[in-house]
Formats: sequence, structure tokens, C-alpha cells
Amino acid sequence: MNPFPAWAEPRTAIVTGGGSGIGLAISRRLAAEGAAVAVWDLDGDTAKATAALIEEAGGRAVGLAVDVADRSRIDEAAAEVRAVFGPATILVNNAGISPFKRFLDITREDFDRVFAVNMRGTFDCCQAVVPDMIAVVGGAS
Ligand SMILES: NC(=O)c1ccc[n+]([C@@H]2O[C@H](COP(=O)([O-])OP(=O)(O)OC[C@H]3O[C@@H](n4cnc5c(N)ncnc54)[C@H](O)[C@@H]3O)[C@@H](O)[C@H]2O)c1
Repeated sequence: MNPFPAWAEPRTAIVTGGGSGIGLAISRRLAAEGAAVAVWDLDGDTAKATAALIEEAGGRAVGLAVDVADRSRIDEAAAEVRAVFGPATILVNNAGISPFKRFLDITREDFDRVFAVNMRGTFDCCQAVVPDMIAVVGGAS
């Protein structure tokens, strides 16, 4: 079954945290289903390694170093994806951190980083990419 709804065409996907774990598996699956995949990860080497795996399997991919806590880098990377594959129609906000510590050991810096990555990062990625989706499929923000 084609998992992509008609409005998701052309299939250009961005997967955050795609350098390892679940994001790596999602990136490979999307590519196997025909999407061009932009793999974003804090660790640019693993992002590129995921992209290389996809290309070795015959897919289209690009790996970029992106910290989803950094809005200006998100905007830059979204522009890079647009230039290479066209506007993104699929965004997987997979990047996330959950530092395991005893409650009383959690610092304000730990707390702020979790919010910057997991919450604000998701918001910023959506805000950067939704205009692409509207440009392709219409709708309002
Ligand atoms: N594995 C689980 O059981 C589980 C359970 C619940 C939720 N999750 C969530 O699912 C997602 C993926 O989980 P996983 O187990 O594959 O995690 P993982 O730690 O194996 O992979 C996360 C990836 O995100 C990247 N990343 C971290 N911070 C980033 C940032 N600021 N910007 C861009 N990339 C960043 C890491 O480099 C890594 O490649 C995470 O959001 C996690 O919180 C996982």
C-alpha cells in the first residue's frame, strides 16, 4: 500500500535526528517508499552516513548537520533542501533528548536544553517547513 496521501506529492521528506535509532529507520523507510529524504542531525557525520546508506540502496538523500535548537540553522537547512529536492512535503520531528537523571540532580541548563530541543525545536521546524507544504498543497497557516 502506498503510505503517501496524494497531497504529499512530490515526496520530499525531512527527518530530524535521522542519524541514528528510530530516525535512521524512518529515513530509510521513507526513501524505500520513494521519498527524497533530507536527514538532519546534530551529528552531521551520522546524518551523512544515513544519507549514504540510502543512496547505496538506490534512493535519494542528503545528510545535513542541524541542531534543531538553532532556528537560523533550521532555516538555512530548509533552504538547502528546497534547492536540492524542492519544497518539503513531509516533516518528521523525531529529534529529541531525555537525559536520565535523578530528579534532584536535574539542572536548569538540562531543563532548558530539553525544552529547546524537544519543544521549541519541533515548533521551529514546523514553522520553517509548513510554508513549503502550503506552497505545494495549498491551505492556510
Ligand atoms: N527509543 C525509545 O524507546 C523512545 C521512547 C519514547 C520516545 N522516544 C523519542 O523518539 C525519538 C528517537 O528516539 P531514539 O531512541 O531513536 O533516540 P536516539 O538518541 O537513538 O536518536 C536521537 C537522534 O537525535 C539526534 N539529536 C539529538 N539532539 C538533536 C538536536 N538538537 N538536533 C538534531 N538532532 C538531534 C541525535 O544525534 C540522535 O541521532 C526521540 O525524540 C526520543 O525522545 C524514544
